[in-house]
Amino acid sequence: MSTSADTAAREVEADLVVDAVRQESDGVVSLRLIAPGDRELPTWAPGAHVDLMLPNGAVRQYSLCGDPADRASWRLGILREPQSRGGSSFVHDSVKKGTVLRTRGPRNNFALADSPRYRFIAGGIGITPILPMIAAAHAAGADWTLHYGGRSRRSMAFLDELGAYGDRVTVLAADEVGLPDLDALLGSPEPDTLVYCCGPGGLLDAVEQRCAAWPAGALHLERFAAKEPASAADDAAFELLLQESGLNLTVPADKSVFEVVREAGVNVVGSCFEGVCGTCETGVVDGEVDHRDSVLSPAEREENEVMMICVSRCRSGRLTLEL
Ligand code: FES
Repeated sequence: MSTSADTAAREVEADLVVDAVRQESDGVVSLRLIAPGDRELPTWAPGAHVDLMLPNGAVRQYSLCGDPADRASWRLGILREPQSRGGSSFVHDSVKKGTVLRTRGPRNNFALADSPRYRFIAGGIGITPILPMIAAAHAAGADWTLHYGGRSRRSMAFLDELGAYGDRVTVLAADEVGLPDLDALLGSPEPDTLVYCCGPGGLLDAVEQRCAAWPAGALHLERFAAKEPASAADDAAFELLLQESGLNLTVPADKSVFEVVREAGVNVVGSCFEGVCGTCETGVVDGEVDHRDSVLSPAEREENEVMMICVSRCRSGRLTLEL
């Protein structure tokens, strides 16, 4: 986790050109993005995502699912969300070869740690961050398996690529075999093994539950939607000190830290505003944070070094941030 005080300074924005659009399955397209003038794109590592800042004003996060060694292009896989509010439907309906898209990032809340053994679990479009992870694990000679679940094979993207890995990959189409047997997969903690999981909230909750007996730090999750909505009912006002700006502010019960900081003229960047993307991560100097995000691990929450200022608040009445 970064502890940078200036969330705006480390965000790179760029206009990229859609070089190819490919239908990867029913409901999933991939976009190949390149920089104009054949410039190199920023480096990234498996697990990273970028924001697409769409012309209709929607900002959405998508995992990079190509090859990190390819500095000429990025690949994103995008599911048409049934309840789309203008993000994925815009991409599916309006983005074509030659479309220019503004991007921000890359950013990585789901980095792949070194390990001799991995259990990868993906549900649906959650396969996207896992693709470069298994390539990296494979290249490093790690022992790994992937269990990839989806509604049906027709809906599951990138099956052709995954075929190259043989029986390390288990495809679990629900209309053929039902749901993954997580008890069999995760019932007994395995030594020196990391579990990486991305997919719908129900799958992540179930995996989290099965991994409760695993060593701390073994499980790594990435959520696409907030785990639990922040409850506003018992929110209280608190004092907010900004170390670098020298400001002393009050966060009222009905506003977020992000809103108050922004209104005070401090340059902060947010994207999802529901605690899932990590864009607004901010260094904490003092005070006990009431963490309400879906990004930080239990250990990171305990460290109390950073917080997501779009949703998290304060338990101690007074909070000091690096900003
Ligand atoms: Fe996405 Fe705060 S803006 S976590």
